[in-house]
Amino acid sequence: MGIWSRKSVATLSEEAYGTSGVRFKRSLGVISLTAFGVGSTVGAGIFSMTGDVAAHQAGPAVTLSFVIASIACFFAGLCYAEFAAMVPISGSAYSYSYATMGEGIAWVIGWSLMLEWLFAASVVAISWSGYVTAALKDIGVVLPQALASSPLTLDAAGHIVRSGALVDLPAVLVILACTGLCIYGTKTSAIVNNVIVVAKVCALLAIMVVGLQHIEPAHWKPFVPTNEGSFGHFGWSGVASGAGTLFFAYIGFDGVSTLAEETKNPQRTLPAALGLTLFVCTFLYVGVSLAITGLADYRTLGVADPLYQALSASTVPLGWLKVVVGLVAIVGLVSVVLASIIGQVRIFYSMSRDGLLPASLGRINPRTNTPVLGTLVTGLVAALTAGFTPLGLLGELISIGTLLAFAVVCAGILVLRRIAPDQARPFRTPWVPFVPLAGIATCAALMYSLPNDTWIRLVVWLGVGAIVYYAYGRRHSKLRNAA
Ligand code: ALA
Repeated sequence: MGIWSRKSVATLSEEAYGTSGVRFKRSLGVISLTAFGVGSTVGAGIFSMTGDVAAHQAGPAVTLSFVIASIACFFAGLCYAEFAAMVPISGSAYSYSYATMGEGIAWVIGWSLMLEWLFAASVVAISWSGYVTAALKDIGVVLPQALASSPLTLDAAGHIVRSGALVDLPAVLVILACTGLCIYGTKTSAIVNNVIVVAKVCALLAIMVVGLQHIEPAHWKPFVPTNEGSFGHFGWSGVASGAGTLFFAYIGFDGVSTLAEETKNPQRTLPAALGLTLFVCTFLYVGVSLAITGLADYRTLGVADPLYQALSASTVPLGWLKVVVGLVAIVGLVSVVLASIIGQVRIFYSMSRDGLLPASLGRINPRTNTPVLGTLVTGLVAALTAGFTPLGLLGELISIGTLLAFAVVCAGILVLRRIAPDQARPFRTPWVPFVPLAGIATCAALMYSLPNDTWIRLVVWLGVGAIVYYAYGRRHSKLRNAA
């Protein structure tokens, strides 16, 4: 027992459905699932991080980094789907690992998922701030630089240095506003969500189509810039480490798997929707990154609003497109901030229900019907992080944490097939053990490609997690106390 104590799949199922066993109605088909997936995936990754990766890691070959990252996502997504279809529970990978590999690993995954959701909200807010600042500047309102960017930045060697600014105020404010919305339980309606998805896709398609007509082919030469002497700074190692960083752009596609129980004919619909979501995102990411690295010199794209920047650099006037992209980014990124905060609140909820975090973090307020304290803590931490931390640092840290969680989910499929072979599985991962092993290998390779500093930060984050677990979680775990 101890850190290896496992929850049974039956317990998870009861938590998901209650004792009444009421199940969701199966109403979602391939198109609605894909729209959901694309909507929760397209965000700061393409709108901001593409520029950073092009400028510092891969050059125009950022396009190849996107393709590589999508392969890891596909394998991991197929594994996610088997778990999600068995128990569509709010803790996702955290809950799955609790049932397969025990409490210790579940804690590590829950702690890593916090990186994914909590800090993703901060990254998207920083990206949002970049677009708002640029749009305001275009209409003559100039925000002082000191109040519109982080006081810290990364130097060429990836070390944290002071930037001279004070705080990224727009990023802080957008998170606080979204936190307020989440507390009052204002759900964006499905229609609003769909409009945002369509707007995001159309804006990116427009950049692709219009941008590719006006590129300067010299900007693509060389397509893979020569390595600058160290791993990850251009050359093929830059393409690989770019793929690790840009894994962030695909985070959120796993949301498709978590809807397994509401899906019609999940065995066929889920892999189709996962594949289609990844295909649509990869197509847009590759097309847009080709267009922007063709419109502007990749070295100039290391800013929070590289799409805007590339359109401004174009030799032909693309002012109308800039306005469209700016508006879509500003509205579309808010929906991703909201989704990230909600994702984090669900993780708090699941971990506190199991006693691994204080119950108050998951307690639902009867008036608002939302976990107020959990949402407030999420909002405050995300806001502080967004105000004071550089984009590059957070993106890689989130990618490595999520890759770790995904690799464990893939391993979990192998374990669960052994320990619960007869459990009903509405969706079965195909070609086991090939798919889970390929998932583990691709996630591990992407983690390996990330810089040493990112690994050190991951170890520090997990170290803090271990302290919290031994100081609190281990002693309050409901599963242990029941044993
Ligand atoms: N994939 C999401 C984004 O790029 C988190 O913003």
